[in-house]
Amino acid sequence: MTVSSPRDISPEQVVREEDLVARVQASFDSCQDPRLKELMQTLVKHLHAFLREVRLTEEEWSRAIEFLTAAGHITDDKRQEFILLSDTLGASMQTIAINNEAYGDATEATVFGPFFIEGSPRIEQGGDMSFGAAGEPCWVEGSVTDIDGNPVPGAKIEVWAADEDGLYDVQYGDGRVSARAHLFTDADGTYRFWGVTPTPYAIPYDGPVGKMLEATGRSPMRASHLHFMVEAAGHRTLVTHIFVRGDELLDSDSVFGVKESLIKDFDRRSAGTPTPDGRVVDGTWTMVRFDIVLAPADA
Ligand code: BEZ
Ligand code: FE
Repeated sequence: MTVSSPRDISPEQVVREEDLVARVQASFDSCQDPRLKELMQTLVKHLHAFLREVRLTEEEWSRAIEFLTAAGHITDDKRQEFILLSDTLGASMQTIAINNEAYGDATEATVFGPFFIEGSPRIEQGGDMSFGAAGEPCWVEGSVTDIDGNPVPGAKIEVWAADEDGLYDVQYGDGRVSARAHLFTDADGTYRFWGVTPTPYAIPYDGPVGKMLEATGRSPMRASHLHFMVEAAGHRTLVTHIFVRGDELLDSDSVFGVKESLIKDFDRRSAGTPTPDGRVVDGTWTMVRFDIVLAPADA
C-alpha cells in the first residue's frame, strides 16, 4: 500500500483537515469533567493524526468497523476480545508500565490476562494447585517481603496456569477447577506449593484478533509462564508472572509481557530425585524460587 506523502496534499486540504480536528476537539470544551475532557480531546487529536498520516481509505475504514463489530459479537462474560486486542497491541503492557513505575526493588508487574477467576480453592503450604491438571510437577517456593526486606506474613497469593496442553481449566467448558489456587504466606513471609511446569500456549486466536495476527504474520504464542497475584494490607497489589529461562518464545511473547527480572530458573530434576517435601513423583520434576517484593500501597 502506498501512503501519500504530506507533500501531495494541497494547503487548502490541510486547512480543511485541521479545521475539522479543531471543531471536534472544541465540541468537548464544555465538558464538566476535566479528566474526561482531556481524554476525549487528546483521543481526537491522536485519532485524527493517525487517519491523516496513513490517509485512511473509506474501504479501510469499513474494514476497521467490521473488525470492531466482530470483536463485539464474540465478546461475552467468558471471552473478552477487546482485552485481547489491547494485549496484542501492547496497550495493556503500556498501561501497566505507566501505572506501576519501578519502585526500588519491588517485583515488576505484567499483564493480567483473561483467565483469572475469583474464588479459587485454598491450599495449605506445600499443597498442590494443579488439582489433576496434566503436566510435569513443579515445586515453587519463595518469600514475600516489603522493600526494606521485612517479611510480609499472611499475604494472599493467587496462582493460576495452563496445563501441559496449553489450556486453562475454563477453556475446557466442563466446569472443572484445576491449575489454580490461593494460599497465604507463613509468619516468616515464606510460601511453597506444587504446581505444573509452564509450557508455551496460544492465546485464543479463533476470533478477529487471531485473524489480525495471521494477516500480519504474527504468532499467537505466549512464552511459558505461571501467573501470580499477591495482595497484602498496606502494599500495592502485584499482578505478575514468572517465565521459564531458556524458553525460545521469551523474545516473541504475543502480548509483550516478558520482563527480564521475571525470568526464572526452573531446574529440572531426574526421576527418583527426592523432593523438598518428600512427595513421591513419577518421572522428572522441576523447582523454581520466586522471591516477591511488594511496593507500599501509596507508592
Ligand atoms: C494469559 O497469560 O493468560 C493471557 C494474557 C493475555 C492474553 C491472553 C492470555
Ligand atoms: Fe497465561
